[in-house]
Amino acid sequence: MKILSNKSTQLQNACVAIANPYLKFRLIKTVLLLFLVFPVFNLFAQSSEMDVFVSDLMSKMTLEEKLGQLNLASGNMGAVLAGSSDDKFSSAIMNGEIGATGGFTFDAIKGTQDAAMKSRLQIPVLIGLDVIHGYKTIFPIPLGLSCTWDTKLIEKSARIAAIEASASGVNWTYSPMVDISRDPRWGRVAEGSGEDPWWGSKVAEAMIKGYQGDDLSDENTIMACVKHFALYGASEAGRDYNTVDMSHLTMFNEYLPPYKAAFDVGAGSAMSSFNLIDGIPATGSKFMMTDVLRTRWGFDGFVVTDYTSINEMTNHGLGDLKTVSALALNAGIDMDMQGLGFIGTLKESMEDGKVSMEQIDVACRRILEAKYKLGLFENAYTYLDESRPEKDILTEANLKAAREIAAHSMVLLKNDNNTLPLQKKGKIAVVGPLATSKGDMLGTWVMIREEKVISTVVDGIKNVGGDGVEVVSAKGANITDDPYLKAGLKSPYAAFMGVKMEEEQRTAAEMIAEAVNISTDADVIVAVLGESASMSGEAASRADINIPESQKDLLKALVKTGKPVVLVLINGRPLTLEWENKNVPAILEAWAPGTEAGNAIADVLFGDYNPAGKLTMSFPRSVGQIPVYYNHKNTGRPMDPNNKFTSKYLDLPNDPLYPFGYGLSYTTFVYSDVKLNKSELAGNETLTATVTLTNSGQVAGEEVVQLYISDPVASISRPVKELKSFQKIMLQPGESREVIFNITTEDLKFYNSELIYDWEPGDFKVAIGVSSSDLKEAKFIWKK
Ligand code: BGC
Repeated sequence: MKILSNKSTQLQNACVAIANPYLKFRLIKTVLLLFLVFPVFNLFAQSSEMDVFVSDLMSKMTLEEKLGQLNLASGNMGAVLAGSSDDKFSSAIMNGEIGATGGFTFDAIKGTQDAAMKSRLQIPVLIGLDVIHGYKTIFPIPLGLSCTWDTKLIEKSARIAAIEASASGVNWTYSPMVDISRDPRWGRVAEGSGEDPWWGSKVAEAMIKGYQGDDLSDENTIMACVKHFALYGASEAGRDYNTVDMSHLTMFNEYLPPYKAAFDVGAGSAMSSFNLIDGIPATGSKFMMTDVLRTRWGFDGFVVTDYTSINEMTNHGLGDLKTVSALALNAGIDMDMQGLGFIGTLKESMEDGKVSMEQIDVACRRILEAKYKLGLFENAYTYLDESRPEKDILTEANLKAAREIAAHSMVLLKNDNNTLPLQKKGKIAVVGPLATSKGDMLGTWVMIREEKVISTVVDGIKNVGGDGVEVVSAKGANITDDPYLKAGLKSPYAAFMGVKMEEEQRTAAEMIAEAVNISTDADVIVAVLGESASMSGEAASRADINIPESQKDLLKALVKTGKPVVLVLINGRPLTLEWENKNVPAILEAWAPGTEAGNAIADVLFGDYNPAGKLTMSFPRSVGQIPVYYNHKNTGRPMDPNNKFTSKYLDLPNDPLYPFGYGLSYTTFVYSDVKLNKSELAGNETLTATVTLTNSGQVAGEEVVQLYISDPVASISRPVKELKSFQKIMLQPGESREVIFNITTEDLKFYNSELIYDWEPGDFKVAIGVSSSDLKEAKFIWKK
């Protein structure tokens, strides 16, 4: 491009001029410029080149064409805009009425860009899709991915997703979802990284890097869209789309960090959320969209609404479509997803003086800039290379990564008497409605559900177990027999968001009898139970987060046989597992593992991979405890079992069944006490905390060594502890290693009552260990 040719001309001139001393000086200067200053200059040059291009383009655009850029309309909605058929959708694109749309297949997307190239100004279209945990090669649901505690693997999953999606013409993904949530009733916890803002931030960064790579204009990088901005994960009672209400301190310290982290690493776009923020829907919140996002954080990408969230502001009580569309633009929203509010009403609002041309220009410019950064103006077909789908999608290497990452995402919750790993011999009964399911292995948000699942759990156990293993299997139960839940799981929408439930007509007793019968001469029973893909994700909140009764009855019958039972859980959220924890000897949390589900589960069950996943969301004992999360505040009356008037329940302990950071291994680890290099520090010093970790078991294994900090005395009440670092360490049996952490005042910072981000001198505790509730502590003082 222009910059590159400048570069080579400068070099040529320099070679010719080498003899002349003055020119020699110029040459040295040029070389210095090229190697030292050019990268910085290059950045500016690129952005000014972009400014010139976009300004020039905008000077040719009519108001209608600008409003077209602000309009995301896909499928039927696009057709509604222009009439009623797909033809009309194409003509809406040709008329410049659609700036962005969706797209599932290469041909459809190509058709869209063809239509855009016939529009007056030939402005290419953004093609957005919910590529949430893979495009065709599906990785574990994001909650599972976060349990890997491995940013490299998480980034790799996003990289592969971007390569596959971009090979089909997609250039923009509505991911990552970085909403912190403490409520497992909310079905969308499946799409996020759990309850911790620090780890949530690291995952967000890894995902953005994976999607966007180093250069957005590369043919295999796509633009990320950080969602749902903001606070959507705090929906009251875990009911989707519900009200959110929280203090600014909680917002800034506990919910906003992952969004900010994503923007800080250069996320190109954001999606506004459905919920209220201080009484105003996020989509109409100037405080969030402008004051926080633009002014405080300096975000320069564009913001799209969530699906029809402008229109929904009418239900929130903010006025008719025209009023709320103006409210959204004034708040700082740039693009309207599916609502037709911007394209339908902003012109009139401008004439009425409710919005200005400048505001429309600002939004339009941000969207055109996104297209520019993606390289779409240089070539609208950048993402439409016909040779790519074949060579880039569902490749052997991608499937290998899916299997590896899925195995890393699994969390061993219980393993009494070394029930696991299984031996590669004898007879295994694999039982349960999820044992032979394919679609449910993919979990929620899989847009192209072509049943490309390589292995069910039964297949995986056969593949990995090999010839020495005899496998028998039975369904044993329907996912649920509860009429209310069943109705939801059989709706056509359930099929769109997951898998439509299919029910057997045999009675529950008949199905259980068959399962027990095939298990009688088995050496071990593997029960594959939990939630179908439609039971978590969007619009999939549950008030009861038990394993459904039909499956629990099956499990009870299997346990009664007296055979060792391994419970493999497939699910999209923490479940309440008190009975299972008491009665089943081994429990493996496998989430929805993706395309390579069965093989990955079997790798773990047979010990070919020693599990090292750790929970990123607490598993409550009962829904009555929710919200239960590790980084809570202290109360004025901390729980004391011997004092009635302290903060507790009469019928249950306060703590969760399985805490944040928890997860077992087939080996055991021993931690030494925590050693500090100093116990008193000042200013910019660095504290070093060291533990010695020993693998005291029989097999090699990885341990996630976690570091938490507490700030017991401060100007505001601080969480009892906060995760600030971790290291994942691989050790051979008998091997020991010193694990060293460096702590600086950056790790002590928080937002105070004035919302200033700083640290306060005083007493602190550092705690290192296996999980948020099994730690060794040391104290230190940090002075200003
Ligand atoms: C969801 C978003 C999603 C969008 C587009 C909405 O209903 O809340 O997460 O990206 O639809 O599919």
